[in-house]
Amino acid sequence: MLFFDPILSEDSSISCASCHKPEFAFADTLPFSKGVHGRLGARNAPSVMNMASRTAFFWDGRAGTLAEQALFPIADANEMNLPVTEAVKRLNNSSKYKQLFVKVFKQNPSAKNLGVALAAFQETLETSNTPNDRWLNDEPAGLTAQQERGRDIFRVKAKCFECHFSPDFTIDDFRNIGLFNGTTLNDSGRYKVTKDPADIGKMKVPGLRNVAMTAPYMHDGRFKTLREVIDYYDNPHTLVPDALNRDSVLLQPLGLTEQEKQDLEAFLHSLTDDRFIKRSSN
Ligand code: HEC
Ligand code: HEC
Repeated sequence: MLFFDPILSEDSSISCASCHKPEFAFADTLPFSKGVHGRLGARNAPSVMNMASRTAFFWDGRAGTLAEQALFPIADANEMNLPVTEAVKRLNNSSKYKQLFVKVFKQNPSAKNLGVALAAFQETLETSNTPNDRWLNDEPAGLTAQQERGRDIFRVKAKCFECHFSPDFTIDDFRNIGLFNGTTLNDSGRYKVTKDPADIGKMKVPGLRNVAMTAPYMHDGRFKTLREVIDYYDNPHTLVPDALNRDSVLLQPLGLTEQEKQDLEAFLHSLTDDRFIKRSSN
């Protein structure tokens, strides 16, 4: 209820679901989401599905738990712009929420149990009904022949597996893929949290489940399609020749053929949960 309720925003216009839209695997279709008064933030809203096993949250990992994370967007001036104390007051003034919190937590609404409640909902958003999961389990309706080829490319030639490791396709760490040059691309990512120069330009490696549903891509939503993402990885230097600190895995161009790019893209589609595949209406 809280995730979908605009009560947590300054003017009661924005809920978590305004930016984390259920039909797009709880991500946003805009590069930068609109918060209260039409304000724009500086980063792309990621999917909040398959968060239960993550160890850090936000592109720069500034929150350590989902419960801690949940309070940031409420207070963020570009998102919900409501002091957390004010949000808690509103919940205590609502007889509906007050009753529910007492029922669940045996306590009145507080900042702590508000975060825990939002985290508990998001922890239910795990997805595993995908062609790739079925293929791994030797079940019917697994990968197509093209997706199987794409899976091999993902693992070996394209080196995606080095960072996007199973089961959720992330190593739960921070890497610099070359989208930082200190001038036109200047979100220093993980460095903002650690102040360690080795972290300049590193971002959290996002999981890739349901990635076909969550365009646009990257921390700044710069790529509109998976094909643009694949073309970027094929030779990051073409787009950003002056990147600083790009990861050593990505120093050499991959040299993917047209067929290999298509196969890789087909594999990425095999990570989409059945719930997002439109059923025929007859
Ligand atoms: C105005 C749009 C907006 C609203 C409203 C919003 N978010 Fe987000 N959310 C974002 C953006 C943008 C990011 C990435 C920000 C960053 O990394 O600095 C994000 C990141 C997250 C993440 C981290 C995901 C990851 O992979 O690390 C979680 C979890 C999350 N939001 C949950 C919530 C919850 C819960 C609410 C409601 C209390 C909420 N969001 C409200 C835009 C929004
Ligand atoms: C060196 C580690 C590394 C390698 C190798 C790597 N990635 Fe990534 N990937 C990342 C990081 C870090 C990000 C986020 C970067 C950003 O937003 O600036 C990312 C982002 C993505 C995204 C965008 C996801 C989203 O929700 O916006 C996709 C899709 C993706 N990678 C696919 C791939 C594919 C396909 C390959 C192989 C061709 C690959 N990655 C290789 C680390 C890596």
